[in-house]
Amino acid sequence: MQYLIRATVIVGIATLASTQNTSTPGGPTFNDFLRFSCSELNIQRIDPLVTPGVVPSPHLHQFVGGNALAPTMDPSMNISDEATCTTCTYTEDFSNYWTAVLFFKARNGSFHRVPLMENLGLEGQRGGMTVYYTAPYDKKTKVTAFKTGFRMLIGDPGYRAPSPIAQEYKSIAFRCFTEPWGPAPPASEIGGDWDTRYFPNKPCPYGLRVNNFFPTCWDGVNVDSPDHKSHVAYPSKGTFETDWECPDTHPVKLPQILYETIWNTSAFNDASMWPTDGTQPFVFSMGDPTGYGWHGDYLFGWKGDALQRAMDRYCGTDCPVLETQSIEKANTCAKAVVVNETVDGWLGGIPGGVKVTS
Ligand SMILES: *[C@@H]1O[C@H](CO)[C@@H](O)[C@H](O)[C@H]1NC(C)=O
Ligand SMILES: *[C@@H]1O[C@H](CO)[C@@H](O)[C@H](O)[C@H]1NC(C)=O
Ligand SMILES: *[C@@H]1O[C@H](CO)[C@@H](O)[C@H](O)[C@H]1NC(C)=O
Ligand SMILES: *[C@@H]1O[C@H](CO)[C@@H](O)[C@H](O)[C@H]1NC(C)=O
Ligand SMILES: *[C@@H]1O[C@H](CO)[C@@H](O)[C@H](O)[C@H]1NC(C)=O
Repeated sequence: MQYLIRATVIVGIATLASTQNTSTPGGPTFNDFLRFSCSELNIQRIDPLVTPGVVPSPHLHQFVGGNALAPTMDPSMNISDEATCTTCTYTEDFSNYWTAVLFFKARNGSFHRVPLMENLGLEGQRGGMTVYYTAPYDKKTKVTAFKTGFRMLIGDPGYRAPSPIAQEYKSIAFRCFTEPWGPAPPASEIGGDWDTRYFPNKPCPYGLRVNNFFPTCWDGVNVDSPDHKSHVAYPSKGTFETDWECPDTHPVKLPQILYETIWNTSAFNDASMWPTDGTQPFVFSMGDPTGYGWHGDYLFGWKGDALQRAMDRYCGTDCPVLETQSIEKANTCAKAVVVNETVDGWLGGIPGGVKVTS
């Protein structure tokens, strides 16, 4: 893979620029982190992290990963024992990853789900997202892989304004593609001048991307916490990309997880379908028309010590200590939905009767 990813430190977070060829020597490349596709597992109203056992859950999510996915996934559950396949290309990764779902609201008030798009270099992926796990770039600092039962949340479906957690706010960014995979000029870091923290207020003819970086410090004890956030923390000094330290309360360094989700907005660019008052028409499944409510959920499910092995070797995408499958094979992993409702085609409202609230 020839693509280079430029990492520059900006506003305190490490920022992987969009995939492109560059001649910048010494910058991180695809071989500095695990970068892999996880195709769609299903799209339904369950939420094993925030509302376990609630069927249907309040709003719709898009799920990828292992087929042990269920409305209730107790921390004592051995996910890698129960799952038989995964939509991710690393076959020892039975984790589940999920996010909100994007809808387009037409002028007549109808809603349509916006399809997900395959990423550059991961052609053939069916929906889903790109997942990254990074071990420290200095290739010296050790990180501890997540323990059985570990789970965490970034963002909050209730936000309609910037996250009150400054580092969380800086860890989520949208880019409107007005050209293939761009703009992505030099120094167009994630979270920099080309990105917004909210929905762009213009059509994105080549797609809309959102990135979210999870915290990289852990309290070393709890695999979860009541808000699904306080057992983890962002660095107290530096950033993941530079010399970083974890706070005394959360001393254990973790790999950095990044979700990259890209929607193919091309069917929704016709100005005649957009509102006449200048507002933008995209809305998340929890009724969020701002974008600030973007959230990502993580439920660790790697088999045995596979992730630790990869992190100990500062593995890149080509990681000989991990077992892989083709994207085509990953696409065949399936899990029947528990909540069967229509999520595609023109809908009279957002699934679950969710109202749009700004
Ligand atoms: C990237 O570089 C490779 C090798 O030099 C070349 O084959 C490819 O066409 C380039 N891709 C883009 C998008 O410029
Ligand atoms: C989970 O199951 C796998 C596969 O059977 C096994 O190797 C592993 O030790 C189990 N982990 C725990 C914590 O029970
Ligand atoms: C609403 O608008 C969309 C897009 O213009 C159109 O495809 C759909 O049929 C309309 N729905 C109704 C109920 O009029
Ligand atoms: C995006 O969707 C359009 C249809 O609206 C389709 O023709 C195109 O191939 C899709 N592009 C990608 C990269 O999936
Ligand atoms: C969902 O319900 C529809 C309509 O009743 C049915 O045709 C379909 O087979 C069901 N799908 C699943 C996965 O249960």
